Amino acid sequence: MLSDELDNKLESRIEKILSQKSRRKKTFDGFKKNKVINEVLDKPTVMELYDLIKSKIISYINGVVKAGKESVIFWAVDENKKDIALKVYLVTTSSFKKRAPYLVGDPRFSRIKKGTKNLVYLWAQKEFRNLSLCYEKGLPVVRPIHVTKNILVMDFIGKNGAPTKTLLESQVDQQDYESAISLLRRLYKEAKLVHGDFSEYNIFKTENGLLLFDLGSAVDLRHPNANEFLKRDINNITKFFVKRGLTVANPVDVLLKVTK
Ligand SMILES: Nc1ncnc2c1ncn2[C@@H]1O[C@H](COP(=O)(O)OP(=O)(O)OP(=O)(O)O)[C@@H](O)[C@H]1O
Ligand SMILES: [Mg+2]
Repeated sequence: MLSDELDNKLESRIEKILSQKSRRKKTFDGFKKNKVINEVLDKPTVMELYDLIKSKIISYINGVVKAGKESVIFWAVDENKKDIALKVYLVTTSSFKKRAPYLVGDPRFSRIKKGTKNLVYLWAQKEFRNLSLCYEKGLPVVRPIHVTKNILVMDFIGKNGAPTKTLLESQVDQQDYESAISLLRRLYKEAKLVHGDFSEYNIFKTENGLLLFDLGSAVDLRHPNANEFLKRDINNITKFFVKRGLTVANPVDVLLKVTK
């Protein structure tokens, strides 16, 4: 009887230790336990993240940086402990209407397969390609690392999982305005791209100057609406700096400066 009781006690102790251990350990797929990840992601995306871990592009995922309607940004870490950002485009809430104008008409993406999923994959590819093109030309953009299906892997800009402030969140000065315009010009002249969503929301203000991101909407200059998008980009960024009380050039002159 006594030995039975001892056995039971021992068993329950072992069980307790084991369960504590497994709680501490990462789960099999590299996600730390108790991190909310799956609630917003569909299974293929979770599998894709798992593949990124298996192929050693990342080592594990730390958590969510920002969850938007159409994408979620994760903070991950690679094998060298370097911070990595994952931009996961959500397939379920993707809006074709919003993206079509930036895809249709860009000769680089003339073959568009039907279906939301394919469109989202294409969008991720497009952002990766735009970033790569700019990065290779030496433009200040976030360094792209990898793209697979609806996941874009890139450098993490920030510290301890907190992203660097955007222009919107920063104090800005005249130098920032000049840099923003020069960035537009370099995009146009060197990468032959128009951003399409160039704004205070999509530019980091780092210690080393401005750094552009969110290039999914950027189009080739041959896109029939490239000029219209450029004018809008100039207007938006001009409005922002005016709101902040800085001296800005006339948008028409800026357009000339960027394109001539
Ligand atoms: N490489 C990165 N490193 C660190 N943080 C990032 C990175 N890329 C994006 N972020 C963070 O995630 C936010 C959203 O990123 P992004 O603009 O690329 O996505 P989005 O789909 O346009 O989202 P939104 O609709 O909120 O603009 C950024 O404002 C920034 O705070
Ligand atoms: Mg954005």
